[in-house]
Amino acid sequence: MHIDIITVHPELLASPFEHSIMKRAQEKGLLKVEVHDLRDFGFGKHQQVDDYQFGGGAGMVMMAEPLVNCIEKLQAERHFDEIIYLTPDGKRLTQGTTNQLSLKQNLLLICGHYKGIDERVREHFVTLEISIGDYVLSGGELPAAVLVDAIGRLIPGVLGDETSALFDSFQDNLLAPPVYTRPAEFRGWKVPDILMSGHFAKIEEWRMEQALRRTEERRPDLLQNLDKL
Ligand code: ADE
Repeated sequence: MHIDIITVHPELLASPFEHSIMKRAQEKGLLKVEVHDLRDFGFGKHQQVDDYQFGGGAGMVMMAEPLVNCIEKLQAERHFDEIIYLTPDGKRLTQGTTNQLSLKQNLLLICGHYKGIDERVREHFVTLEISIGDYVLSGGELPAAVLVDAIGRLIPGVLGDETSALFDSFQDNLLAPPVYTRPAEFRGWKVPDILMSGHFAKIEEWRMEQALRRTEERRPDLLQNLDKL
């Protein structure tokens, strides 16, 4: 998968993909992330990319032209399955969306800043608008990093143990069950006996019960969606 990201702060996206699973995904050639500095398409000496909003009001708006010039340059290089704008008024990101996006070949992510981007870019170029939650961040860079991580780890072959993503929280609309590692007893606190029993079927049953209980307690809203899967 190839993911291009357009931003006015490329330095914010320098490190998130250089470690751990994202790094490995790129080393294995399963993921390529390319960050593009929108200022390279800006106007004048100051490489201006934003301007005052029509109608008045505080806050600058990212201009259409630099963005469109950057988008069209990239479109000449590859066909994008989705052009995604990260914005608090987008569709809330879920595991379902990340699952779908992990099957795509080419994604283009646009990070907003200030008051956002000129609406005409959203109308004529953006195909999907994503919010990572009901709170406002100062720009789309961290949301873009979240999205790339959430998608990247699902690309087949990225996770060492292919099954482990299947058991993540939310994959089946359930939260993940508790996990333990050595020692079997720490400060007198014991690991549940069932996990030490070696009885695989019973362990699976226990995990399912725990996942259900945890979901009932913490996220009962998820259980209402179970029958829709
Ligand atoms: N940009 C600013 N806040 C955001 C959010 N919550 N999700 C996506 N993009 C954003």
